[in-house]
Amino acid sequence: MKWTIDEIRPKSRELIRQLAHGNWGNDMMVVHDACFDLADFPGFMAKADHRVIGLLIYRIDEHSDAELLSLDSFEENQGVGSALLDRFLNLEGPKRFYLTTTNDNVRALQFYQKRGFSLAAFRQHAVRKARKIKPEIPLTAENGIPIEHELELEWFKEDDG
Ligand SMILES: CC(C)(COP(=O)(O)OP(=O)(O)OC[C@H]1O[C@@H](n2cnc3c(N)ncnc32)[C@H](O)[C@@H]1OP(=O)(O)O)[C@@H](O)C(=O)NCCC(=O)NCCS
Repeated sequence: MKWTIDEIRPKSRELIRQLAHGNWGNDMMVVHDACFDLADFPGFMAKADHRVIGLLIYRIDEHSDAELLSLDSFEENQGVGSALLDRFLNLEGPKRFYLTTTNDNVRALQFYQKRGFSLAAFRQHAVRKARKIKPEIPLTAENGIPIEHELELEWFKEDDG
């Protein structure tokens, strides 16, 4: 399969909203006690034959670190997720790149750790708080693991000099 990766342009915001509603119920991401409207943030989109096959959304935080807010591959195990992550980690400026996932997401924990990320924080029962803001977060993942805690992973860019 051949695909391209492009920056998300402001005119794609409505598309992001539709994809977010289709995949996650709505376009709000609740993480570490904060709430983000994904369609408002920059990111990258993988496309094949005019179909969106992957999406990465991020923000630059108040410390100039880059936080990955969401990464989704709609055609798994073909390199789409890795290619999107690679674009993100090549952003000019930030030195620290980080993200939050939940305890049930063993696939994501494997994916990021194999790509150089390391565990940086554990937020016990954080998903209970998130569920108060976003009640549609399921209690149990499809793999049967209760969704309870947040795990933060980080990756540092080496200095060029
Ligand atoms: C985690 C996620 C983004 C990975 O996306 P993906 O497109 O499957 O990622 P890739 O295809 O790049 O890599 C997945 C595996 O496929 C393998 N792969 C890549 N290209 C391949 C190819 N052409 N043929 C066979 N295998 C291939 C990779 O080696 C990788 O295995 P590894 O992790 O053991 O090294 C995806 O599973 C996903 O969307 N999950 C749901 C949402 C989520 O949990 N997001 C992360 C939380 S923020």
